[in-house]
Amino acid sequence: MSMKKVAVLMGSKNDLPKLEGCVKTLKALGIPAEVRVMSAHRTPDIVAGFVSTAAAEGFGVIIAAAGGAAHLAGVTAAHTLLPVIGIPVEGGALNGLDALLATVQMPGGIPVATVAIGSGGAVNAALLAAEILALSDEALLERLRLYRADQRAKVEAADREVSSQHA
Ligand code: RP5
Repeated sequence: MSMKKVAVLMGSKNDLPKLEGCVKTLKALGIPAEVRVMSAHRTPDIVAGFVSTAAAEGFGVIIAAAGGAAHLAGVTAAHTLLPVIGIPVEGGALNGLDALLATVQMPGGIPVATVAIGSGGAVNAALLAAEILALSDEALLERLRLYRADQRAKVEAADREVSSQHA
């Protein structure tokens, strides 16, 4: 069975620089990803068409990133039973707070797993997608274990460096 893909949808090309960590992390974990620009309000038909066929097209998780009133993740979730992860994109007059509230405050019935605003949230969206896919992919689970071990090693190295500087 071939590996499930992750779709990374964004409402505008202007969102792309904020999603670098997401795309890089998926790549580093060997997860096939399709990165697309489509908007819940500017191209609603394209969003509905892509999302409603995504499961049949081999996607296992959809990540939806948007700024402002940010209804892309909610609209995406409305069209699929695949897990949807929302990334609130920073920027605009409220610097992402509007996007955070619009993405996280989904009324009961249609879930969107929302990550933090900012670069950490983008990376975590990829990791959460990986953890979902790893439920049925032992090799990916092992790559996630190595990712965590690497993080741990970096913190331990930083601790050795800082503590020796201040001994
Ligand atoms: C949202 O509106 C996009 O996700 C973007 O973050 C925001 C502004 O879009 P642009 O006007 O920069 O294209 O749909």
